Amino acid sequence: MPTFSISERVHWVGALDWNLRDFHGLYCPRGGSYNAYLVRGRKAAVIDTVYAPFAGVFLDHLHELINLRDISYIIANHAESDHSGALPELLEVAPQAKVVCTARCREMLKACYNLPDACFQVVKNGDTLDLEGATLLFFEVPLVHWPETMFTYLVEDQVLFPCDFLGAQMASLPFFADEVPGLLTEARDYYAFLMRAYSKAALAGVTRVREIAPRIIAPSHGPVWRDGGEEILAAYERWSTAPEQNLVVVAYATMWGGTEAMARAIAEGAGQGGAKVKLYQLGATPVSRILGDILEARAVALGTPTFVGGIHPSVVGLLPFLSMIGPKGKQALAFGTAGWAGGGARKLWKELQELGLNLLEEVPESRFVPGPDEKKRLQELGYTLARG
Ligand code: FEO
Repeated sequence: MPTFSISERVHWVGALDWNLRDFHGLYCPRGGSYNAYLVRGRKAAVIDTVYAPFAGVFLDHLHELINLRDISYIIANHAESDHSGALPELLEVAPQAKVVCTARCREMLKACYNLPDACFQVVKNGDTLDLEGATLLFFEVPLVHWPETMFTYLVEDQVLFPCDFLGAQMASLPFFADEVPGLLTEARDYYAFLMRAYSKAALAGVTRVREIAPRIIAPSHGPVWRDGGEEILAAYERWSTAPEQNLVVVAYATMWGGTEAMARAIAEGAGQGGAKVKLYQLGATPVSRILGDILEARAVALGTPTFVGGIHPSVVGLLPFLSMIGPKGKQALAFGTAGWAGGGARKLWKELQELGLNLLEEVPESRFVPGPDEKKRLQELGYTLARG
């Protein structure tokens, strides 16, 4: 893929990872991207690098545009490997370039790549860097989403580089957000997986972006917002405060179909109650997609077969992720099946109660498979979830 211009002084020089499907647990059905940018005044700066396996593509992109010896600065907004992996290779061919980052980021990069102090130029909130015809302004934004993270803003072109914030892990051509259908679903899952655990910091990040009022938002993953990014800013505000829609998510593990039959009856009842319904068998759909839907759900029903006297491992595996998105107050139902002994659903109820969900007291548990009367009751419970 060629480089391309996103504003008068900025070129995209990153890499698209079309085959990425699992980004340390985040499901990426549309691949991934590691965005890096070349900013030029009379001096030049590179903003972030790429994941190490894509260093060759990244350096080729830079070669197309500039003699690498003319790069004065490498701005490291964030230390994580998907943005710093190619830093050692870039420094080998551009040893004159200073790495510009926060003090905490410097310590992380030194630990990751054994770089000497002399490589670095530390900046703090409000500092600027003069590229002679292009001015970079830095904002420290701790816990958006790591503690060392900063935003970089190109004053003249009004372009904000917020790294992971406001991004979506996807490969996309075209590359501008207004041309990419379905982008908000990928951005939501990215938010749920990486940002929601620090939602107060995310809200502070939105406030900071609104104060800056950029014309273009160029994150380090996914498409570039060239219309001020109001759509993604409003979405971040909603996901950080009151994400609930009229949606019921029913998720379950099943071994021989009994818990699935219960889940379907609950889903039918929720649909009859007027809610949008998502039904997921755990394991058939990646957890991060289910999590994104649960973030936006007003009610959740979770089902488990009794497995060695307890909760099925697939359901157990969902619980830490559920905790991560802060599900407190969502209406919930625990249900499940018993074989020769029961108790899995009741144990699940207790786990969900500890997470702060607003649970229905009733914990339906069917012996092997639900009978007609049990299905009717499950439909009623689904209806109750839908009606709130
Ligand atoms: Fe895309 Fe936190 O790295």
